Amino acid sequence: MGLGLAALGRPEYINIRTNHDIDKSETAFKNTTFSVLDEAYKLGVRYFDTAPSYGKGEAFLQEWNTLTNHEDVILGTKWGYTYVANWQLGYPGKHEIKEHSLEKLLEQWAVSKKMIPHLKYYQVHSATFDSGILENQSVLEALFRIKEDTGLHIGITTSGENQKKVISEALKIEVNGNLLFDSFQVSYNVLEQSTFDVLRTLIRSGKTVIIKEALANGRVFESENFPKYKVAYTLLNKLADKYDVGVDAMALRFVMDSLQPDYVLSGASNVTQLKENLKANAFELEDADVKALKALAVSPGFYWQERSELDWN
Ligand SMILES: NC(=O)c1ccc[n+]([C@@H]2O[C@H](COP(=O)([O-])OP(=O)(O)OC[C@H]3O[C@@H](n4cnc5c(N)ncnc54)[C@H](OP(=O)(O)O)[C@@H]3O)[C@@H](O)[C@H]2O)c1
Repeated sequence: MGLGLAALGRPEYINIRTNHDIDKSETAFKNTTFSVLDEAYKLGVRYFDTAPSYGKGEAFLQEWNTLTNHEDVILGTKWGYTYVANWQLGYPGKHEIKEHSLEKLLEQWAVSKKMIPHLKYYQVHSATFDSGILENQSVLEALFRIKEDTGLHIGITTSGENQKKVISEALKIEVNGNLLFDSFQVSYNVLEQSTFDVLRTLIRSGKTVIIKEALANGRVFESENFPKYKVAYTLLNKLADKYDVGVDAMALRFVMDSLQPDYVLSGASNVTQLKENLKANAFELEDADVKALKALAVSPGFYWQERSELDWN
């Protein structure tokens, strides 16, 4: 398992949590982030994922990495979204703005490259057809130059109903006769399994597959706000009891056992959640249980519509 910093580097994100009574100062977030990073390392996590749009996510990770100086840490970051909420609580607009231009790549790369030599994955943040990234020759060539100069794995991350199609198109992209993309960070979980076949193909062909949003942003946890998932909650709770873990560890384990990706990201926002998430490392699901969980998938159209309506708070 890897650890993502989306919920650690900024005070507001998609949160299903009901308890909002936490200290949202930058100092408190920094302290929590360092505790979560330390605990994750202690418990065997070596891959850490961040992005410029995760507020202080890149800065916290870089500072922690410099201070701790662990030799075996692997870092991944992204480019293409800018954090604009500026730690303002209740920020009314979009907290992050997307721009897949050459200027944005060069601006963000100038900051992110300081994570070298631990940086291994450099990813287009949320590649879509709309953003034009897959057809922008100057950007694709600049990514290829970064790859040649640094040896980094160049990747894309995907979100939305079209993940499968975007991945298939990205897989074909070549620069100077060389395939460009080596790694794919994709949403896959008990509710959203539409990428299963393409992800298995990627894994078989030696690409790196990193799974994000394995807990469906918290929608796997029983909540009266999502009555449609009553049947899912019953099965998730029953299996969590059977394996003596929480629903989170069970849902993370489903990703591991059904797909066998290179990494599954924990999105823990504190040490307690992290420890619960990492229990996924300590057991395996029986085949019949994986099969039963596969039946919980909803249509990608429904899933992504619902995700777009989740509050940032
Ligand atoms: N490339 C992209 O576009 C993209 C998009 C999304 C995520 N990511 C990456 O993937 C990582 C994980 O994704 P994610 O955090 O969005 O989604 P997630 O893993 O599906 O959900 C994480 C959330 O689940 C809740 N949670 C986790 N463990 C819990 C527990 N034991 N008890 C109660 N609640 C628990 C927390 O919510 P609360 O914070 O509300 O408590 C946490 O923020 C991110 O950190 C980021 O690195 C990338």
